[in-house]
Amino acid sequence: HTLSEFLCTHMSKPDYLFINNQWQDAVSGKTFPTINPATGEVICQVAEADEADVDKAVKAAHNAFRLGSPWRRMDASHRGLLLNRLADAIERDSTYLAELETLDNGKPYAVAYTVDLPNVVKCLRYYAGWADKWEGKTIPIDGDYFCYTRHEPIGVCGQIIPWNFPLLMQAWKLGPALATGNTVVMKVAEQTPLTALYVASLIKEVGFPEGVVNILPGMGPSAGAAIAKHMDVDKVAFTGSTEVGHLIQQASGSSNLKKVTLELGGKSPNIILSDANMEDAVEQSHFALFFNQGQCCCAGSRTYVQADIYDEFVERSVERAKRRVVGNPFDLKTEQGPQVDQEQFNKILGYISSGKREGAKLMCGGGVAADRGYFIQPTVFGDVQDNMTIAREEIFGPVMQILKFKSLEEVVTRANDTKYGLAAAVFTKDIDKANYVSNGLRAGTVWINCYDVFGAQAPFGGYKASGNGRELGEYGLDNYTEVKTVRTKNQI
Ligand SMILES: *[C@@H]1O[C@H](CO)[C@@H](O)[C@H](O)[C@H]1NC(C)=O
Ligand SMILES: *[C@@H]1O[C@H](CO)[C@@H](O)[C@H](O)[C@H]1NC(C)=O
Ligand SMILES: *[C@@H]1O[C@H](CO)[C@@H](O)[C@H](O)[C@H]1NC(C)=O
Repeated sequence: HTLSEFLCTHMSKPDYLFINNQWQDAVSGKTFPTINPATGEVICQVAEADEADVDKAVKAAHNAFRLGSPWRRMDASHRGLLLNRLADAIERDSTYLAELETLDNGKPYAVAYTVDLPNVVKCLRYYAGWADKWEGKTIPIDGDYFCYTRHEPIGVCGQIIPWNFPLLMQAWKLGPALATGNTVVMKVAEQTPLTALYVASLIKEVGFPEGVVNILPGMGPSAGAAIAKHMDVDKVAFTGSTEVGHLIQQASGSSNLKKVTLELGGKSPNIILSDANMEDAVEQSHFALFFNQGQCCCAGSRTYVQADIYDEFVERSVERAKRRVVGNPFDLKTEQGPQVDQEQFNKILGYISSGKREGAKLMCGGGVAADRGYFIQPTVFGDVQDNMTIAREEIFGPVMQILKFKSLEEVVTRANDTKYGLAAAVFTKDIDKANYVSNGLRAGTVWINCYDVFGAQAPFGGYKASGNGRELGEYGLDNYTEVKTVRTKNQI
């Protein structure tokens, strides 16, 4: 496949919904345009799911989950085999998928191909391995009984995924859900529906039974809300903003109390102690904030720097940000592509204005970086105070906040003073200081002398308003499983 082939086949007709292993138009017939953020031009029209389509997809998923269905009767090892085959098909087509991801999302192709795609494949293979290894227990209860637990699938899982890592978030959600035998109704982000739909065709190709995975492009307030409140959805997993996380949890509370896992926003502190390796800390802190155009829920967006190295750190960080290569995401030298859409672009520019207005010191950037598309200059603010809007709210863009601190106790207290608790980092050569900071911080992930190191094997998720439950690793299986306790009376 090539990009132009994709464009030729898809430009003139709507891309469809994927329900029951079939391509379907929306019941309403509605479509929406998906935009290339590097140019602002329409790539193609995509079918827009709403409540009626969610209903169809839930029926399909429910039917695929019925007792005695091909999916329920399938050996666990065979579920693992299907996940491995899906990983193989994605690996086979990874050049095409990376191109499509870059076209629809704007992330540099070099990153999509070397970071996103390999991690998608690894995630699916990791969970493929778990399919026949997720065991219950035998439990010595009192009396003449044999007692054991079964790890059973929850049922129909609604999964609502974001636009910042479209393929990777799809894999994080499908891997544990399918390994444990659930069925899925997935709503993909309206900004970036294309790669998920291509993966749908691979799901069908490798032989998942019909109805096991259903994929719906659509809007949050219609399709997303319909999933969250649906009486036949047994669990909903959402990745996105804390604001929408509140709505999802409320919808569960006012419908059927479906299980809810949430991976939400963050304002993660990245703490640089004066004994840190300066060059490494500057580069890692730059990466922590600017990676993926700053569009990471776990971005290190409050960079706390100890007073005695503050000036040098700021100077070097500004110099690094000025060297960041912004431009055409298909150019292999590009480090930073466009923001995902006009709305995010406007929002980020609004935050930059607020930083200036509230008295932070604009050290570089601050403006638009190209005359078309949604490009923003790598921006660094110094002298940021804890009460400024740019130090409290999630910006989700290439805007770095540097704050000064004196003592360890002070920085841990200040770092904790946020409603979020997704991630944090500390840079130091002193193991005691590293442990002190990492133990004191209320965050689901702490990186020591590194940032954004991920792997399918280790759990990820948030404290406080950054979410509920964990994704990835063995822990991720818990949140797709019901535990059934069986007690048998011994009669001989
Ligand atoms: C932050 O607090 C300082 C000191 O109390 C105050 O002068 C300043 O106006 C506050 N800034 C914001 C943005 O609230
Ligand atoms: C971090 O913040 C939490 C909540 O505000 C607080 O209970 C905890 O003591 C703080 N930890 C440290 C080491 O300050
Ligand atoms: C996730 O799974 C763990 C382990 O079973 C459980 O304690 C936790 O309540 C679950 N969280 C959610 C949000 O379902």
